[in-house]
Amino acid sequence: MDLEQHFDATIARDQRIEPRDWMPEGYRKTMIRQVAQHAHSEIIGMQPEGDWITRAPSLRRKAVLLAKVQDEAGHGLYLYSAAETLGADRTDLTERLIEGRQKYSSIFNYPTLTFADVGVIGWLVDGAAICNQVPLCRSSYGPYARAMIRICKEESFHQRQGYELLMTMMSGTQAQRDMVQDATNRWWWPSLMMFGPPDAESANTAQSMAWKIKRHTNDELRQRFVDMSVPQAEKLGVTLPDPELKWNAERGHHDFGEIDWVHFKQVVSGNGPCNAIRVSRRRKAHEDGEWVREAAAAYAAKRKEAAA
Ligand code: 3HC
Repeated sequence: MDLEQHFDATIARDQRIEPRDWMPEGYRKTMIRQVAQHAHSEIIGMQPEGDWITRAPSLRRKAVLLAKVQDEAGHGLYLYSAAETLGADRTDLTERLIEGRQKYSSIFNYPTLTFADVGVIGWLVDGAAICNQVPLCRSSYGPYARAMIRICKEESFHQRQGYELLMTMMSGTQAQRDMVQDATNRWWWPSLMMFGPPDAESANTAQSMAWKIKRHTNDELRQRFVDMSVPQAEKLGVTLPDPELKWNAERGHHDFGEIDWVHFKQVVSGNGPCNAIRVSRRRKAHEDGEWVREAAAAYAAKRKEAAA
């Protein structure tokens, strides 16, 4: 059996590809692409909610939000480490992000206008992330799948804290209830776009499914998320902003309205409401951190010299 046949047999047997295994260049490339963009998403994703840490309405809410945002940083670093096992260079990946040569999730290009946004992000955005990432625990690339296990456990905390925040607000004043409905109206459709373009327009899904990098298609996971969210919205007492959303007994799923893919393409190509601020803040953080990287490198070189 030659190397390619061994790779194919490993995938066929639902076993893991590990860093030292031979892999087709295309597999390595698409793994670096997906893992790096996932990592970028986690790091950029700290910004929308981070804006509310200093303005949280109580010490408890501040502590919970701080823990969540710190988790996202950890997810990003975890995933950059997974990308490095494929031969990627973290500095190069950061430059690709800052220069717009690699993507991050469209969902983080919207403003967080009230504290209800923090709850809706936890409920819908982290809920969508769980839908998308639990299957990735069975992704064929070992380090990525194993990283997902820990990340998914933390995402569950993220989703719960958001939903609990909203339950509290919904039992509050009318103004609080209106804030939750307003945030739901703004985040519902962008959350559906998190799952990617329709399968028919997805450039990567077929190959990623064949290599068992992805275990479900974009549309399958989007449908799963819609079906999961409808009863949660009912329990919360909010209306999802889609008049065509209704149960289809024949399909055993909820039908839902047409997604605005023109808007999605706008946001993915850098023209969303907050793309510029998100990337410029990331660039500034990278530049401000230059001295730390230099000091760490100088210290490592000194230690190496002393050990020689
Ligand atoms: N935002 C930005 N770009 C997107 C996108 C989105 N929501 N959905 C798709 N794209 C891009 C893809 O990256 C691809 O571009 P590329 O070839 O230059 O990378 C192009 O649009 C076509 O999309 P495909 O469906 O063909 O691409 P994929 O097969 O890679 O599927 C994906 C896209 C479903 C996002 C898949 O990459 C994936 O599952 N990634 C892992 C999960 C992830 O990255 N989630 C991001 C959310 S961050 C998060 O969950 C953090 C949590 O704390 C909220």
